[in-house]
Amino acid sequence: MADSKANDLMERIVSLCKRRGFIFQSSEIYGGINGFWDYGPLGAELKRNVKDSWWRIMTQRRDDVVGLEATIIMHPKIWEASGHATTFADPMVDCLLTKKRFRADQIESQSGVVYHYSGAEDATDKARTSKEPYSVLLAPGKNPDSARKVARQFYALRGITEARLLDERTEKVENSTRYNPENGSLLTEARMFNLMFKTYVGPVESAENMAYLRPETAQAIFAQFKNVAEVSRQKVPFGICQIGKAFRNEINPRNFTFRSREFEQMELEFFIRPDEVVEAICGSVAQPAGPGHPGEPQASWGWQMWHKYWVEERLAFYERIGLPRTSLVEYWQKPEELAHYARATVDILYKFPFSKKNAAGELMGEELEGVAARSDFDLSQHQRFSGKAMGVFDEELKLAWGKLDEAKKTALSQRCFESRRNYLVKTNEPADKAEAQAREEAAGLARGSYVPHVIEPSAGVDRLALALICNAYGEDTAPDEKGKMETRVVMRFHPRIAPVKVAVFPLLRNKPELVKKAREVRDLLRPLMTVFYDEAGAIGRRYRRQDEAGTPFGVTIDFDTLGEQGPELKDTVTLRERDSMKQSRVKIDALPALLLEKIQ
Ligand code: GAP
Repeated sequence: MADSKANDLMERIVSLCKRRGFIFQSSEIYGGINGFWDYGPLGAELKRNVKDSWWRIMTQRRDDVVGLEATIIMHPKIWEASGHATTFADPMVDCLLTKKRFRADQIESQSGVVYHYSGAEDATDKARTSKEPYSVLLAPGKNPDSARKVARQFYALRGITEARLLDERTEKVENSTRYNPENGSLLTEARMFNLMFKTYVGPVESAENMAYLRPETAQAIFAQFKNVAEVSRQKVPFGICQIGKAFRNEINPRNFTFRSREFEQMELEFFIRPDEVVEAICGSVAQPAGPGHPGEPQASWGWQMWHKYWVEERLAFYERIGLPRTSLVEYWQKPEELAHYARATVDILYKFPFSKKNAAGELMGEELEGVAARSDFDLSQHQRFSGKAMGVFDEELKLAWGKLDEAKKTALSQRCFESRRNYLVKTNEPADKAEAQAREEAAGLARGSYVPHVIEPSAGVDRLALALICNAYGEDTAPDEKGKMETRVVMRFHPRIAPVKVAVFPLLRNKPELVKKAREVRDLLRPLMTVFYDEAGAIGRRYRRQDEAGTPFGVTIDFDTLGEQGPELKDTVTLRERDSMKQSRVKIDALPALLLEKIQ
């Protein structure tokens, strides 16, 4: 449970987000809609910068990753192949009193005394009874009458307005998740609830026209794998990345935008050679040698090295845009937590103010991104469901295979056969069919063909935007117009992702020469970066407004700029840094290069 200090901090962050136009409740004028959020002017810029940084790093600055932009609604078979149609579900429970819905696995366990009743009868009319059993958990130290009050409310909803509770019986319980933490009422049994939003394609609302709003962007990448590989002339190992909307009908959206029903994902599917193929080509498979970044990719890397590489690349990305390493946690999922097809998954967590704390009182963090080694599960599933071959031809493998001795060929074929058969059996293929298909696929190695494996770094744009906002939020003191110290709210965004990079101010708005010069500076910088021009109010107030917006630099055009104090200061401006509040004198000509260096 987050403590009250953390709640208070979160409240101040949420209030700043609304006040300054980072994030608003969706449809606010109609009372809002739970789990949906809109980004205001500053939030829209922040999100765009997050996505642009990711896109630049993940594809534009690499030779081995290309982009894709697919539709939100796709053929429903995609979700059968991926498993979402059957298994993308969370356990759901309802409060028997208030009907409030919870995710069963998120109910905090509680201890106390349970008050059980077999039913109730109406004190004023004995003919009116309810035989429905009901229970209430009473937290330690609370008055038993409060449990009885909750029980009476429950029976009142069933028409027993003056309830006399029947057969009261008490029982001590430890760590139970069967009761509503807010009022102690018994919850319903858990039912599975599929999180995909449904819709209909075309005018007829029939089962065959049903489609889903995608719950992740990844599946389109798998479905388009062959097309993209062909047109981009990429050879494994290579990746396809995508940024886009995803929709999940979350049972309990919470923690501001952290768990929303509509959000954006940034996903990379990086396709690699199976380890047997690497071994056939390179003689052996390189293994991670210890902590840290494994360096430049090598042909001898198997899935473990690639997985490690992407975890480190992703951590470096977060640091690049201003999340300190100490605010991040690298969580290796335990074997029992892994999805059945995953060989390893690392969750990258950020220590949000609302994160749970461990016994030592340290924030444990909440997931920003998962980096999963998903074997060949996804492409294999689409191969099975679509009937289209998802394998690739690898010239190097074919050549290398021809040079292997018979013992090595047998060993590698056998390993390939076993891993393919195990996958097919796990995904409910009958044993004889699985055996035959696995044998055929193992034989494919000799022809240079295989289904690629994949490493998937999958991140949420909105969660990252929220982490950046939480990380940036700060309060300190700064002098006001009269030199008196006042509290300053400052958003210390890294210049790379700050919504506005520089604010330009004429010292006084009623001096046309200052305004003219300031507009010239604005127009000089605007093609290169986001500029906010502000001439309204005292200069100190204008600085303060930009501090709250997280603008890292402020440029003031004053009388020195006009050369009134002598020619040496002519065409120089005051450059103010948001965090240190230090001011320096800079030549206008030098501004573009100086600022670009800091924001790129
Ligand atoms: N293709 C893999 C996949 O979708 P996931 O862990 O379900 O994996 C990846 O989602 C990321 O998407 C998460 O780490 C998180 O950042 C973001 N995400 C998932 N559900 C979300 C939600 N309800 N609201 C906001 N972001 C969410």
